[in-house]
Amino acid sequence: MGLTILGIESSCDDTSAAILKDTYIYSNVISGQEVHKNYGGVVPELASRAHQQHIIPVVDQAFKKAEIAKDQVDAIAFTQGPGLLGSLMVGTSFAKAFALAKNIPLIGVNHLQAHILSHFIRDPEEKEHSVPRFPFLCLLVSGGHTQLTVVRDYLEMEIIGETIDDAAGEAFDKAGKIMNLPYPAGPIIDQKAREGDPHAFKFTRPNISDLNYSFSGLKTAFLYFLRDRVKENKNFINEHFSDLCASLQYTIVDILMDKLIRAYEITGIKEIAIAGGVAANSGLKQAVSDAAGKYGWNVYIPRFEYTMDNAAMIAMVGYYKYLRGDFENMDAVPHARLRY
Ligand code: KG4
Ligand code: ZN
Repeated sequence: MGLTILGIESSCDDTSAAILKDTYIYSNVISGQEVHKNYGGVVPELASRAHQQHIIPVVDQAFKKAEIAKDQVDAIAFTQGPGLLGSLMVGTSFAKAFALAKNIPLIGVNHLQAHILSHFIRDPEEKEHSVPRFPFLCLLVSGGHTQLTVVRDYLEMEIIGETIDDAAGEAFDKAGKIMNLPYPAGPIIDQKAREGDPHAFKFTRPNISDLNYSFSGLKTAFLYFLRDRVKENKNFINEHFSDLCASLQYTIVDILMDKLIRAYEITGIKEIAIAGGVAANSGLKQAVSDAAGKYGWNVYIPRFEYTMDNAAMIAMVGYYKYLRGDFENMDAVPHARLRY
């Protein structure tokens, strides 16, 4: 049918634009923001300013890479929430202006649904692409969210568990900040953990009922543990860095896996997908693959560039919403909190 969608993502600290034709991706340009590195987290004011600087060049590059003219776009899909309001505002305003100028439909996308549908993005050069079959269980783990979802169809999803405080990525990043690592600390901890002993240090697990998660207790336990050790030996972090990373990662992964296995036992669903930035974590990938062997799961992990925040996944949701005729009008506003 040749349906071409321009996707726009600006919910946090990555500005991204992508061109999707049917379910094939032709470009996915992502511009990160170095400016937050030394603050231990994303500074909302700086993020929205950087989005304003990046959005036009990023969209331009997406068109050039895809070799598609602006007039060939059938609809524009943008992240409507959840996310940082100032950041979302930049993408929303751009999308509305583009839709108005080109007289094409405007599609509002839930960022979390997009992470989940990242599994369905296809590359024109890719020979084989195995996708989860419905219904599947998705563990969405990112810097802002940790959720367990039953996915019954492209746009029919039910959250069956979620964090009551910090997200898994936030646990990595906050623990990293305690160890004086730059933001985001997740990838650095992952790298270092490979050289360390995951059982060197024990951190308490949360005692949360149902399928919900909690990570704020772990962050506090980690902070107090290090405070006491550093009092005795000021080089403690340096001397035990890889063991600290390995033990921390082991604990976070263990907490994630515990509820994922419970969700499988409750639902009986063996199609297991992970998504979001933390899906790139080698410890989590290993644990999911071990569990797959034990329980007979089929496991799906998106390509790295689709685990992080990107506009390809936004265009993907746009595609399915277009087929339903689910469009926004020019009154559309972004929402910092948005449920699906
Ligand atoms: O999905 P994402 O790009 O943005 C959000 O929507 O939050 O996820 C970013 C998060 C950050 O917290 C980052 O530290 C974490 O994903 N992350 C990782 C790894 N790569 C990214 N955490 C652990 N191990 C990794 N390899
Ligand atoms: Zn995200």
